[in-house]
Amino acid sequence: MNIRYYEGDRIYLRPIELEDEPTLRLWRNDPKIWATLLYIQPKNALREREWIEKLYKDTHDVGLAICLKDGHRHIGGCGLHKVDPIHRRAEFGILIGDREYQNQGYGTEATRLMVRYGFEEMNLNRIGLSVFADNLAGIRAYEKVGFVREGCIRRAYYRNGSYHDELFYGLLRSEWEQNQA
Ligand SMILES: CC(C)(COP(=O)(O)OP(=O)(O)OC[C@H]1O[C@@H](n2cnc3c(N)ncnc32)[C@H](O)[C@@H]1OP(=O)(O)O)[C@@H](O)C(=O)NCCC(=O)NCCS
Repeated sequence: MNIRYYEGDRIYLRPIELEDEPTLRLWRNDPKIWATLLYIQPKNALREREWIEKLYKDTHDVGLAICLKDGHRHIGGCGLHKVDPIHRRAEFGILIGDREYQNQGYGTEATRLMVRYGFEEMNLNRIGLSVFADNLAGIRAYEKVGFVREGCIRRAYYRNGSYHDELFYGLLRSEWEQNQA
């Protein structure tokens, strides 16, 4: 059964299932991946499973698996987190975990799709994100979708023996609507 919850040109988003746990664990323990993410703790099966279980109980989080339409391969995940129903904002996160599929436009497409979902289905007014200053692929993908750089926290994170700046980006509903025209 291939559930297609939300669909783009080359990818679709589907719910994350408990059966995805080993794949997610593999990706999140990949040093090239976790070095780009905010957490650094290793993930074992128990923690990964808890994360999946919590995801679908919590209305402040939407997390979806990214799959290729052609062949249904699961290549990553993306989500809107810390959804705030009063201020109508959320934080975007993404991971193209299968490294073979990075740098082929899938991250940009998934970001576009999740942003559309946030504005059209969740009625958000603002989507924010943060990214390390040396994550050039991420920065390029977010800027292509229309995210605007709003600030920088200098030396915010310590990784690989040195401190890294964290950049903050935001996309307002009005800006996104203008880009659709
Ligand atoms: C960041 C990530 C989501 C981007 O998705 P992706 O599918 O790899 O990226 P895309 O192919 O859609 O776009 C990447 C863009 O960055 C460019 N790029 C890649 N590496 C680059 C580099 N070293 N310098 C400058 N530009 C670079 C690509 O050329 C492309 O731009 P273009 O389409 O104008 O040519 C994905 O690489 C990923 O998941 N990485 C690991 C986890 C991660 O970083 N998550 C985000 C944390 S904030």
